Amino acid sequence: LAVEYGCEAPFEVEYHETLPSTNDRARDLAADGASDVVVLADEQTGGRGRLDRAWSSPPGGVWLSVVCRPALAPSRVSLLTVAASAAACGAVREAGVDARIKWPNDLLVPDPDAERGGRKLAGLLTEMEGEAGRVSWVVLGLGLNANVPADALPADADATSLLVERGGDPVDRRRLVQRFLERFDDLRDDPDAARDAWRDHAATLGQRVRVTLPSETIVGEAVDVTEVGALVVDTGTERRVVHAGDCEHLR
Ligand code: BTN
Repeated sequence: LAVEYGCEAPFEVEYHETLPSTNDRARDLAADGASDVVVLADEQTGGRGRLDRAWSSPPGGVWLSVVCRPALAPSRVSLLTVAASAAACGAVREAGVDARIKWPNDLLVPDPDAERGGRKLAGLLTEMEGEAGRVSWVVLGLGLNANVPADALPADADATSLLVERGGDPVDRRRLVQRFLERFDDLRDDPDAARDAWRDHAATLGQRVRVTLPSETIVGEAVDVTEVGALVVDTGTERRVVHAGDCEHLR
């Protein structure tokens, strides 16, 4: 396989020019027993986002999925998502772009003119399988608008790319992926360091937020994140710990 990124991180890299979805390919590899494999594609034709949304994946982005087999209880798999979003944010900041993490794991570039206070640069889709309280495999899918030109970004969302933020200067995707994988490898076994890195890069902490859950909506100030990445929201009358949901920053 052509490995454009020639990564030296401790992961085996499988590169494809085009795939329907790197998460789907990674799930197949995981089901066959693979571990610490990264599937990368220059373009996805059926990229998937959270909450069953489509994920636009034109050529030039970083569309990748990491297969892991962690010794974790299913309730602690979100530790890996915390590590991955902190790692992605760190790698992007090394590329000179001031990204922040919006809970749970979007990367935003702050922009006061954007409806939600920032433009979306990247997102993570974590999928897993397990039985009898043990995780069998986890697939962490990272979609990062790296060298995606402005006219190829989704028109209906406040989105941005590293190319746009760097004033048209393309980023070295090989280095970006390598730094992401190295950082992720450091943080995945160190929950305290992962949470500290997440907090350092958080856009959500200190913000007034609205978190939409299937059964209710919680409004309050985001005051902390727990070790497993749950958001702590102070509603004024109580502190709620939210493990999953759609979060909006309010002004
Ligand atoms: C989100 O909704 O914010 C998460 C988007 C995750 C997209 C990535 S791109 C690589 C991997 N393959 C997919 O089909 N989805 C994830």
